[in-house]
Amino acid sequence: MVQKLILDVDTGTDDAVAIMLAALHPALDLVAVTTVNGNIEVEKCTDNTLRTLEWIGRGDIPVFEGLATPIVRSDFPTPRATKRDPKVHMAVLPLPAPKGRKQEKPAPTFLSDVFANNPGQITLVAVGPLSNLAAAIAIDPAFPTNVAELIIMGGAVDKSNITPSAEFNIWADPEAASHVFRAGFKKITLVPLDATHEALVSGDQCDELRSLGTAAGVAAADIIMHRIRGYEANQPTGTPLTAPVHDAVCVAALVDETIIDTKFVNVVVETVGEYTIGRTVVDHEKRTTRPENCHVAFHANRPAFIKMLSEIFARGPMPGAR
Ligand code: BDR
Ligand code: CA
Repeated sequence: MVQKLILDVDTGTDDAVAIMLAALHPALDLVAVTTVNGNIEVEKCTDNTLRTLEWIGRGDIPVFEGLATPIVRSDFPTPRATKRDPKVHMAVLPLPAPKGRKQEKPAPTFLSDVFANNPGQITLVAVGPLSNLAAAIAIDPAFPTNVAELIIMGGAVDKSNITPSAEFNIWADPEAASHVFRAGFKKITLVPLDATHEALVSGDQCDELRSLGTAAGVAAADIIMHRIRGYEANQPTGTPLTAPVHDAVCVAALVDETIIDTKFVNVVVETVGEYTIGRTVVDHEKRTTRPENCHVAFHANRPAFIKMLSEIFARGPMPGAR
């Protein structure tokens, strides 16, 4: 059965790889993509998303633009954004300018409407800050129960990438993330840094993707190589010439749940700590009586993930055949 999904993104290099995987996988029906402020300003995320979809011949998929700021905090995207590493994400992806445009409807309105009209039918994969989701809950309190499953790239158990205790997507809008974990979604799967750093992609694997010759293979190779150079320069992964491609792991796990290894635990998000804002507090050792609310991925299957990228990016048009 083909699984319908909507991707919420802040494109973003790894977001672009996730979009291509979702748009080209025959087991998935990518209904729409929504964008949010995060890696870069939301208008640029929208532009990059349109570029990515058109490059692989999927300009038919509608793109809805969402929130330009977090739901509460005024100190992001500036000045906190200046701390963001420009070597891993690009303001403009190296793909042709889009011919199409974003849809008129704001992303949170689109999300609340589409899930209300298709209750339990569509999975939501959120790979940016969770601002649009919190806004959709504010519009329609039934939104969480209308979502078949929510898969989030975000958070960390033992790792971090923006402060010593926080991962970027959760840190960038911690109040939104806190709402989401308490909102009553039927099933939440969290894919944190701990798992995505087990699915590293290497320079040699980029060469293999490029040799596929397809638009998706070439773009994925360019984009992931850019990430590898950024990681080498700023935050080496411990395995030379590799980088995580966080967001694509979520899409892969939706198709093949054996790509991640999860445990059902309680997760809450820190919003007031002096040093710990945006931390996902994962009660995997049952230190509290808080009820389980989230399937957290502790591990990822790197070979299976790479195999899926190779198989799916062999599909679609050749470069320039838009
Ligand atoms: C997450 O933050 C962004 O930089 C990536 O796109 C990913 O969604 C990783 O922390
Ligand atoms: Ca992202």
